This record gives sequence, structure tokens and C-alpha cells, in this order.
Amino acid sequence: MKRKLIILTDPGQDQAAALLMILGAPQAFEVLGLVATAGNIDLGYTVKNCLKVLELADRADVPVYAGCPQPMTRGLVTAEHVHGPTGLDGPILPEPRATPASAHGVDFIIDTLRQAEPGTVTICSLSPLTNLAMALVKAPDIAARISEIVAMAGAYFEVGNITPSAEFNVYVDPEAARIVLDAGIPTILLPLDVTHQMLSTRSRLNAMRGIGNRCGVATAEMLEFSEAFDLNKYGWDGAPLHGPCVPAFMLEPDIFSGRQINVSVETRGQHTQGMTVADWWGITDLPKNAFWVRHGDADRYYGLLNRCLANLP
Ligand code: BDR
Repeated sequence: MKRKLIILTDPGQDQAAALLMILGAPQAFEVLGLVATAGNIDLGYTVKNCLKVLELADRADVPVYAGCPQPMTRGLVTAEHVHGPTGLDGPILPEPRATPASAHGVDFIIDTLRQAEPGTVTICSLSPLTNLAMALVKAPDIAARISEIVAMAGAYFEVGNITPSAEFNVYVDPEAARIVLDAGIPTILLPLDVTHQMLSTRSRLNAMRGIGNRCGVATAEMLEFSEAFDLNKYGWDGAPLHGPCVPAFMLEPDIFSGRQINVSVETRGQHTQGMTVADWWGITDLPKNAFWVRHGDADRYYGLLNRCLANLP
């Protein structure tokens, strides 16, 4: 049976790759809608970037809902230094013909979950968790209706990317991450610990470009743009590829390994705001609220991503 997905996203090149991967696996996923998040760049751009990715894949039928324009309690921190001035720089993507849906993203999440059979909708989160947390605050009954949350968020063994201690998606809205992790919903986290193993080496990007279709070529070109920052920062053979870890986990979980642990979010530390404190060694008795993915097989990951991209125009 297909998984029904609500996708939270602020694309971003790695998330564009994740969205295309999902659209390239129609046998596995039914996308109910995208909720554009303020994150990598402000909301106006993330809405447009969602529409651009859908247009690229000829999937303007998938609705895009604008979420909240800022995190729950803080000003927005953005990442144009990685993703470029539009948040999705690199190749010129087709101008979207579709326009955003009229409902607010938070209401779309609530209404969709209330209308669906309980346990049939997965939340696929590629971005800060603002809109899901807002939905849980507004309508706590939806928690019991979510099948599971699969989220790219957090870091522990690899520590941070936006500060020395925090991963970007959690740092942008730590209060939201805490609300989501405390909601008692089955949750799988794909943190930097695993995304930093998924390096976009030259041969992997060449294989992607070599698919030869417009989505494969555009994805390779997008990633070539965004990897420049990380290549310079880390000095590795390729850049980490974050977002597609989420669909890859849903499609082929045995690519990955991890364990069920407690994850707490630091919201107030002077140097650790937004840190995900992962109790990997079971030192506390705190509830084991998330499956923390620690390792993954990069060759299988890129192979799967490219097979999905090959199904697109
Ligand atoms: C996350 O931060 C964003 O900049 C990326 O798109 C990804 O979602 C990685 O920390």
C-alpha cells in the first residue's frame, strides 16, 4: 500500500532532490501536499521553490500550502550562504505555472489528519518543524492520528552545522522540535550523524547527470551549486546530502541502522541552543521518544536516489 505523505519543506537543493526522489517513487508514495516552511530562506521564496520543483517534475497537481512566516517564538535564521540568494540557486528551473493553495499550511495538516483514517498519514519533514508543532498546539487530537514522523533533523556525534552544537533545522525552531519530540508520536530522525556519510562524490554526481533526463541533470547541477559551501568547509570528497535520507529510509530502511533512544532539545543554552541531546548510551531513564539513525550505506543510497530520478521527465 502507498504511504500517504504530508511533506514539510523549505527547498533548498538537497530537499529538491528529496522531493524529486519522492515523486520518482509513485509506487510507494502518494503526496497529499507540501507545506512550505520558513527556513533556508523566507516563506515567499520557499513557496515559490516548492512550486518550481513540482513544475520541473511535471507535477503541478500536487498542492503547496504556505505555512508560518517565522518560527514559533524567534526571528528567522536563514541559510542563503549555502543555498544562494533565492534559496534554490544553480540551474535555471522552469517558472511555475501553478499557484499556492489558499488554505494555511497548519490548517491543511490538521484538516488532512482529521479526515484521514487514523494511522494512515506519514509526516515527512525535511525542514524546521514549525508548522507541525503549531498544528499540534492548535489541535492536539491530531497526534494520535499520525502514523509516524520521518524527519531530517538533529546531530549528536557529528555535532552542529549552523553552530558548533546545533543542526540547522532544529536550531531555526528548537521550541517546535521539542513540542514534536514530546508529542508521543512514533518518530524517526535522520541527523547529520548519517547525512554526513552520504557524500556527493564526483562519480555519484556524474552518474546522476548521466541519467540524462531533465530532473537528473537539474538535480546534479543543483547539488553542484550547494555543495561548494560544504566542500570548502569540510574538505571531503563530496558534500553531505541531507534531505533524500528521509525518503530513502521510507523506501529501503535496511540501508540504515540506528536505535530507539531519548532525544531532548536544548532551547536555552548559551552555546547549545538547538542542540539535540541524544541519549545514545541509555544513561537516563527518559522516554525513548525517537529512532535515531546513526549509519547508512552511501552507495545504496545514491543508487536508490538515481533510480527514482530516472522515473521522472
Ligand atoms: C538541513 O539544513 C538545511 O539547510 C538543509 O536543507 C537541510 O534541511 C541540514 O542541516
